[in-house]
Amino acid sequence: MNIDVLQKRIRLPKLREKVTSAEAAAEHVKDGMTVGMSGFTLAGCVKSVPHAIAKKAATRPLKISLLTGASLGNDVDSALTNAGVLARRSPFQTDRTLRNAINRGEIMYVDNHLSETGEQLRRQQVKPVDVAIIEAVSITESGEVIPTASVGNNEIFAAQANKVIIEVNLAYSLEMEGAHDIYCASHFPNASPIGVMSPRDRIGSIGIPVPPEKIVAIVITDEMDTPSQNLPPDAETAQIAGHLIDFFKNEIRHGRLTESLRPLQSGIGTIANAVMSGLQTGPFSHLTMYSEVLQDSTFELIDAGMMDFASATAITLSDQKSREVFGNFGRYKDHVVIRPQRISNHPEVIQRLGIITINTALEADIYGHVNSTHVMGTHMMNGIGGSGDFTHNAHTAVFVTKSVAKNGVISSIVPMVPHVDHTEHDVDILVTEVGLADLRGLAPRERAQTIINNCVEGEYKDMLKEYVREANLRGGQTPHVLEKALSWHQRLHETGSMKETAKAG
Ligand code: COA
Repeated sequence: MNIDVLQKRIRLPKLREKVTSAEAAAEHVKDGMTVGMSGFTLAGCVKSVPHAIAKKAATRPLKISLLTGASLGNDVDSALTNAGVLARRSPFQTDRTLRNAINRGEIMYVDNHLSETGEQLRRQQVKPVDVAIIEAVSITESGEVIPTASVGNNEIFAAQANKVIIEVNLAYSLEMEGAHDIYCASHFPNASPIGVMSPRDRIGSIGIPVPPEKIVAIVITDEMDTPSQNLPPDAETAQIAGHLIDFFKNEIRHGRLTESLRPLQSGIGTIANAVMSGLQTGPFSHLTMYSEVLQDSTFELIDAGMMDFASATAITLSDQKSREVFGNFGRYKDHVVIRPQRISNHPEVIQRLGIITINTALEADIYGHVNSTHVMGTHMMNGIGGSGDFTHNAHTAVFVTKSVAKNGVISSIVPMVPHVDHTEHDVDILVTEVGLADLRGLAPRERAQTIINNCVEGEYKDMLKEYVREANLRGGQTPHVLEKALSWHQRLHETGSMKETAKAG
């Protein structure tokens, strides 16, 4: 490799001797270890050593517990699953192969609030990290490791591990130096306040401090992150965005918000990204984000001159947007900061900044309890991610979902959700393409009327009205017909549709 490039990327001379192959680096990972890898919603994922670990497992027994920031890309989770390497996995994933293995009960998956994983490690409530494998754009003269498109839990993994392996990725430009804000928060019993008073505040250093003697191997890679696969906005996501914009306009009219709103958080996936993108059609200016992930929509809003600044722990983009943003990072550097997930998702900061959170529900019930994770209450989709961190501490907690899924055989609004990630106590606003339910200050019986009237239509609306009528006859502050509460899911299981007409037919 070109010595000039090496000197620019690894500026502490003695560390250049550590450059080696992925196979040699993988030898540091032994059976039974806990490994902490960088990677958050596909961004900043280590790309080479994990595949060498998967190969190594073909020749000798190798089972590990794998912790990350969030989901990995570059086929890492599927390669490790197919090689039988994963005994345990936490705190988040979006990989189909891994998901299937989790749902077959082959891999023990711990679905954590993303602000919690690092805390549990520091409190020694879970097994410590033995080896950390972290992606970097460079290592500075003083040995600071500069991350790539995400920070995640890297600073905690590096602090806790006895051995650190770095993948220096040449595909990400040195212009990324200075984009990160690494703050290693103090710990109990002397935990001090976290001094982020606005999304643009910087309170740490530009890189992760790693003692050079801990770095046992450096592997050079040259590969971009897997791009996000979000679908483009469609008529229904535009309607959802429209309802939300009308809500924001009304809040502005009543003096509860200004046209810069509050700092925004937007969840992962097609719908949340499309809804954020739809904000471009609203009368907003000087928007900011204090979020977990920045998707294409953030950079569209920055390009449109509507967003001033965005803070997150990861930047996850489509192929096209990734080329535009990372190919010209200097243009965006003054508009973004990438922080550890303990800080991006920290309850104290979220509450202080007064964030409007926008996350996606798989389904919600008539009282506003939200299931974000478990299909039919049992089968893991992705995980709760940071949606709980943000929702519980929000200024205004919004959930969005299309009113039906799978061509209408599933209603996203049901009598009772079979798994609860977010309770009615936390959910302020529910939006579907049909309309918006403002649940603030409403009692459960009022919440049910508002959700059914505003967010559901057609046969499912009639069915829910009938359910509520029957439930109310039985009484209660939160009435239910217990033997029928999960009957919609039961019917879906038996007939392939939640519709009563499907059963009749
Ligand atoms: N029952 C079964 N499947 C459902 C469903 C329901 N009630 N509602 C949606 N789905 C399916 C969709 O059909 C789609 O399936 P497909 O992949 O086979 O096409 C899939 O779930 C994704 O739904 P989609 O409507 O495309 O939404 P999305 O891409 O916006 O993702 C979540 C929605 C809930 C899966 C996603 O937002 C998530 O994982 N959330 C939890 C984590 C989180 O909120 N993090 C936020 C902090 S960053």
